Amino acid sequence: MLHEDFADPSFSAAVIGWQKTHGRHALPWQNTRDAYLIWLSEIMLQQTQVSAVLGYYARFLERFPTLRELAAAPVEDVMAQWSGLGYYTRARNLHRCAQQVVAQYDGVFPSDPALLAELPGIGRSTAAAISAFSSGTRAAIMDGNVKRVFARVFGIDTFPGEKKTEQAMWRRAEALLPASGIESYTQGLMDMGATLCTRSSPDCARCPMQQRCVAHLTQRTKDLPVRKPKKAAPEKHATLLLIVDKGEVLLEQRPASGIWGGLLSLPELDGHHLAEDDEEQPAIDQTALVRAMQPFGEMESQERLMTVTHVFTHYKLHIAPLLITLARRAPLAGEARYQWLDAGRVADAALPAPVKKLLLELLGDEANSQARMF
Ligand code: ADE
Repeated sequence: MLHEDFADPSFSAAVIGWQKTHGRHALPWQNTRDAYLIWLSEIMLQQTQVSAVLGYYARFLERFPTLRELAAAPVEDVMAQWSGLGYYTRARNLHRCAQQVVAQYDGVFPSDPALLAELPGIGRSTAAAISAFSSGTRAAIMDGNVKRVFARVFGIDTFPGEKKTEQAMWRRAEALLPASGIESYTQGLMDMGATLCTRSSPDCARCPMQQRCVAHLTQRTKDLPVRKPKKAAPEKHATLLLIVDKGEVLLEQRPASGIWGGLLSLPELDGHHLAEDDEEQPAIDQTALVRAMQPFGEMESQERLMTVTHVFTHYKLHIAPLLITLARRAPLAGEARYQWLDAGRVADAALPAPVKKLLLELLGDEANSQARMF
């Protein structure tokens, strides 16, 4: 887009109007301009709900009533107060930040969000919130809650974790800032995200955005914001040896651990990489095949059969069966993990579902009626 015009004063007016009557006004870090009290709340509220923060916030301030007392305390004492709140990097950064504000700014937080954002543990959004609440600076916040509100209200249907989408959301947030009332606006966005526009059950009936919310109007609140796109499942390839002789098929017991642990399956030809779907299959490595066949006998014929794909939860397995008939069968001396199974017993054998399906299809009537074709 060459020209983005995200500005719309009616948006902030609606947020501010709603916040004044329906937002939260009595949280312990509200109704103050004390940057220490506001900073501490914003750090504790990162990735943590208000209800979990309340008790910690009160106890923390009893132990460290001022920024200077916090900066002078041993880090162990800070960690002890934080214990149970989680994300402990926040506590270490909090302590470092307090020391830095004392050393660099004589114990007074700067009001400029750009300077705040240089301090440990304070990102762009947290800097904006601290600055807005403590000195009325017009600066935009953009946390998970605000992303959800924006994605729904404006019908943003790309993943907010993606850089381009996130940057566009920041530009929008800047353009939508109100000319005045930044405190109510910022608190209102947070309150809407936390109390109305929740992830799984948004309360659209009470939402001031109802008439303009693209997600609500198009019944897509369940689909927005777009979830993180799943990584494509990895694909694996295996050549399985379908060795048949006198109406029997050769099976191998798989190792106890790993996929299909302990089940019977077809022997696998190692080190053979199959081509992608639309490429020609590379030739079977005949030396490797002869070596793999040694315990079972002398090969008479080999024929590559159609590849089948089995979808597991975490990957796709392309199975390329190689049908082999024998000129002479070798005794399976001392090879307890191998066995010959009558084709007619395949249906009842302890085989993995895709291998059983493959065998029943390939052996067809033999497997079902015990006719002896091989
Ligand atoms: N989450 C982050 N900052 C908040 C605040 N000031 N009030 C309520 N929830 C918040």
